[in-house]
Amino acid sequence: MAGATAHANWSSKWTFILATVGSAVGLGNIWKFPYQAGENGGGAFVLFYLAFVFLIGLPVLMAELSLGRRGQKSPVYTMRDIAALEGRSRLWELLGWSGVIGGFVIITYYSVVGGWVLAYIVKAVQGFGGFDADASRAAFGAFSTDSTSPVIWHAVFMAITVWIVARGVKGGLEKAVTYLMPALFILLIGMVIYSGITGNLQAALEFLFTPDFGKLFFDSSVNAVTGDVTETFTIRRVLNSLGLAFFSLSLGMGTIMTYGSYLTKDVNIGRSAFTIALADSAVAIMAGLAIFPIVFAYGLNPGESVGLVFITLPIAFGQMPGGEIVGALFFFLLAFAAITSAISLLEPTVSYISERTNGSRTKVAIAVGVASGSIGLLSALGQPGNILGDITIFGMDIMTAKSFLTDNIMMPAGGLFIALFAGWFVSRKNAMEELAIDVPSFKTWYFLIRYVCPIAITAVFISVLTL
Ligand code: PHE
Repeated sequence: MAGATAHANWSSKWTFILATVGSAVGLGNIWKFPYQAGENGGGAFVLFYLAFVFLIGLPVLMAELSLGRRGQKSPVYTMRDIAALEGRSRLWELLGWSGVIGGFVIITYYSVVGGWVLAYIVKAVQGFGGFDADASRAAFGAFSTDSTSPVIWHAVFMAITVWIVARGVKGGLEKAVTYLMPALFILLIGMVIYSGITGNLQAALEFLFTPDFGKLFFDSSVNAVTGDVTETFTIRRVLNSLGLAFFSLSLGMGTIMTYGSYLTKDVNIGRSAFTIALADSAVAIMAGLAIFPIVFAYGLNPGESVGLVFITLPIAFGQMPGGEIVGALFFFLLAFAAITSAISLLEPTVSYISERTNGSRTKVAIAVGVASGSIGLLSALGQPGNILGDITIFGMDIMTAKSFLTDNIMMPAGGLFIALFAGWFVSRKNAMEELAIDVPSFKTWYFLIRYVCPIAITAVFISVLTL
């Protein structure tokens, strides 16, 4: 996976699936999914998330992979080439651009949370002994509002990512992914069992799987004077679940297109994409099942926001025998999952700039890392309570605002244009040839990509703007 024009192929179909799962599975599934499910009322949000993953994410995933395999270059050039081959406007290369920019914006806060995870490896080794809900919340609060240690850990996370990207990610990473992704999966299963036994499983299941559409579609506010509750209709949480589906699958911004460009012709894109979507959503659900039994057993608030994972799990690690080891192992594997995603976020920018400038990959990687790392300082110090915590953008703190922009606007919009391009601007014959799946599956995919994806994404956008 070195340069964008280097045509190294994946060593095997499994390495491709593991690497793509490596990009997909990350903080989105284990950090973002639980806290957003918590903030957005649970069941109905989860249901929408899953529906979006399979009805919209999966077809877009297949489209990105097949465009990438056909173009064989970085997203900017892949889009330019295929548009030319299909006799379409060169403007389609803007799609590749939006991916480069989107990845750059995401990494500026992703690496801050990645830094929190690294810090928690050390904290886990020191032990969370005796942590109850209040102690755990206080510990996370003290850490995230500190003005130095989150910055240092953010720098360490960024340095590791840059180091791997600079070396070209093929050799070592493929091997590491082969072992560490399955290890994370197994550890998560163990944690789900542990939380299920020791925590409040029933409340967690109810919260995650009993849809309450009132909680999804209505904001309620209490009048301070009269005590009356007013309910206002909102589509914001639906947009959130769409954004999360795109984010957790790494879609709509060229990452998956780049990974598709290393694919060989014999790989069945339909089946691989299904496996990837299944693994990705399974990890999110497992993270929820590991976290929410603890939330309810300890009377924590499910809407604990960005700190949820960092507050709940230490309580469990503090109680279980050998918790130092299990805790450290968990945060280590999570850090690894975050790094494999971070690499795929930095890769489009680095490969594009090295393509354009003919600059050395190492120098470009360092420059991009320093630039995005510096912008990332704003997120590190912008947590509520920290020195830049008072800065808000449209009522959101800096990290939330960036994540709103990328997840809820740029990625679904990228997905929309990818769906339009693959469904309407590539000839049916070429689309069919490149996907190379059986006819009934192709027809289903074609229907989803031509009609369901564009209409659903547009409908969500329009509703958010007008309702
Ligand atoms: N999917 C990654 C995660 O869940 C984040 C990501 C988004 C990676 C977009 C690459 C591109 O953490």
